[in-house]
Amino acid sequence: MTKFSGKKAIVLGGTSGIGLATTEMLRDGGAEVIAGSRRECGIDGVECVTIDVLDREALSALFERNQGFDILVNAATGGPRAIGPFLDMELDGFQNSFAKLWGYVNSVRLGVPHMAATGAVVLYSGYPARKYRPGTLAIGTVGGSVEAFIRLAANEIAPVRINGVCPGLIDTPMSPLEGEERKAYYESGTEGHLIPRAGTAAECASAAIFLLGNEFVTGTIVDVDGGAIVT
Ligand SMILES: NC(=O)c1ccc[n+]([C@@H]2O[C@H](COP(=O)([O-])OP(=O)(O)OC[C@H]3O[C@@H](n4cnc5c(N)ncnc54)[C@H](OP(=O)(O)O)[C@@H]3O)[C@@H](O)[C@H]2O)c1
Repeated sequence: MTKFSGKKAIVLGGTSGIGLATTEMLRDGGAEVIAGSRRECGIDGVECVTIDVLDREALSALFERNQGFDILVNAATGGPRAIGPFLDMELDGFQNSFAKLWGYVNSVRLGVPHMAATGAVVLYSGYPARKYRPGTLAIGTVGGSVEAFIRLAANEIAPVRINGVCPGLIDTPMSPLEGEERKAYYESGTEGHLIPRAGTAAECASAAIFLLGNEFVTGTIVDVDGGAIVT
């Protein structure tokens, strides 16, 4: 008998990086896991579904098929994000960055009515929400919206619980860089942090596992960022 035995989990964006690590930890914890994203995937011991979190009809059908499920995690980035100086930014790019928020909103709005009353939700925000640096205005605004959404939704969806994990700079396939360029990116990006290295997907996922398993926690955000926000 393991921690999540008998639980059914749906992990959107669960096929890469932080979402994949969450999928694997839930599976290893005994849950029956469905991982969803736009790609076709094959993950040992996990049911993969091809789904776009912006497709509400498909999401509704997925949740209806899994009536009474226990755990909802959404780690889907949603689509391309706008990074760089705000005054040079294409406004369509800024607006499109909110695909992450809409994917999250869709999944909570459409998923929670199909969850068990003892269910729990985890969403991933991102440290630009509270670490104010030039060039991160769009993603920071999205992250801030995700965190406000979590706190406000907690009041409305109880007894289902909802919490967030706020990743700092984490080494995942989100960055397409390779070799020395990749190493330099993570070194310069974490210089001055209290723990000056990129985090791992597993370090983020373990915070989600805590939030999903602790039945006395709701409406909160756990920072997993090597101390980035407090520097
Ligand atoms: N890595 C970091 O440094 C970092 C920092 C701060 C916050 N975060 C946040 O942490 C979360 C996970 O990031 P990550 O680094 O693990 O990213 P990742 O490795 O790029 O994985 C993103 C996942 O989201 C899925 N996805 C994207 N758009 C989707 C859509 N429209 N519908 C369904 N699935 C979609 C992707 O699969 P498909 O492409 O197949 O759909 C993939 O499984 C995101 O919310 C991200 O903003 C990450």
